[in-house]
Amino acid sequence: MSILPVLEIPNPILTQQAQPVAAVTPDIQKLLSDMLETMYFTNGVGLAGNQVGILKRVVVIDCAGEGEAPDPLKMVNPEIIWKSEETLCRSEGCLSIPREYADVERHACVTVRYTDENGQIQERTADGLLGVAIQHELDHLEGVLFIDHLSALKRQRLLKHLEKRRRKQARDAGQA
Ligand code: NI
Repeated sequence: MSILPVLEIPNPILTQQAQPVAAVTPDIQKLLSDMLETMYFTNGVGLAGNQVGILKRVVVIDCAGEGEAPDPLKMVNPEIIWKSEETLCRSEGCLSIPREYADVERHACVTVRYTDENGQIQERTADGLLGVAIQHELDHLEGVLFIDHLSALKRQRLLKHLEKRRRKQARDAGQA
């Protein structure tokens, strides 16, 4: 297994649509394992193909809390087949938009259908953090980021804040 570089905005791959996976080959299985390892390494709860520069419909998620048993999900060609009318609002972040967070409105509960790493069709219904993570990661496959759900004003503020912090980091690195 290996740690993959995670792309950050404004990399154009993050705004492109990922393509369906034709078959779960050993290459896809390795990609899923590498993505999971990368996600754990970066303390994320989810990672989509686009974020490691691969425009394939693959997603990994693990929303197990601290002290809970790991709950790794490796999903190929995931699709949401049911969503609740009820919505919720909670704070989201993204490895591709480092250390910026904002409240996003999502469906409170969703059912996702996907192919697992053994080529079997699975379904999972999830609410709470896992439900949000599924919606966030599936958005990535469409080239959509959580900031795209914000008002123009909030998005601009967040991007300005990120830019400011990146400039400061670059300055600090230059002085070191
Ligand atoms: Ni993300």
